[in-house]
Amino acid sequence: MNIRLARVTDYETLKKIKPSISDRIIEERLSRQEEGKVEFMILEDNNEPVSFVLLKWEGKKTHPEYPDMEDLYTKGEFRRKGYATLLIKECEKRVKEKGLKKIGMAVNPDKNSKVKVFYEKLGYRHDGGKLYVDAVYNGVEDWVIDLEKEI
Ligand SMILES: CC(C)(COP(=O)(O)OP(=O)(O)OC[C@H]1O[C@@H](n2cnc3c(N)ncnc32)[C@H](O)[C@@H]1OP(=O)(O)O)[C@@H](O)C(=O)NCCC(=O)NCCS
Repeated sequence: MNIRLARVTDYETLKKIKPSISDRIIEERLSRQEEGKVEFMILEDNNEPVSFVLLKWEGKKTHPEYPDMEDLYTKGEFRRKGYATLLIKECEKRVKEKGLKKIGMAVNPDKNSKVKVFYEKLGYRHDGGKLYVDAVYNGVEDWVIDLEKEI
């Protein structure tokens, strides 16, 4: 098992994990990574690309004060084997190493209620804020809440 940063040669690797990810999104993330603003992390097992996550050092609009994990994704047939847990733990480790005390992520509590329970098991808690529209995917609003964890 290996966790590493995505590189410009990883477009196909990233699409192997999540076929719907666009070139534009990959390009944008790689350029923000160059600027030191994000870490676009890929997890491989036996050289097989399995999961990725975007760790954003500058947080998100609702919580710019601590880093945020965005677009955590595990390839379909590799789910429920603990890979996303390993990526979350790696993000927490990197945040802690910088001397920062908090990290978070947004989740859609209705559509992704099982994922929310998964995050709660890892110690993430609702920040108490309201539901808000994080993004619109194919015309459908993604209503999320923010979860956070002291590390
Ligand atoms: C959420 C996601 C990243 C988890 O990846 P993963 O590698 O399977 O994660 P792990 O194996 O570490 O843990 C999965 C946990 O999530 C929960 N979970 C996820 N999907 C579930 C389902 N369909 N039914 C029940 N529990 C589920 C369980 O608690 C599970 O742990 P368990 O298998 O020990 O019971 C993956 O399901 C995924 O890519 N989903 C689509 C994208 C997404 O929803 N991302 C999160 C946006 S907030």
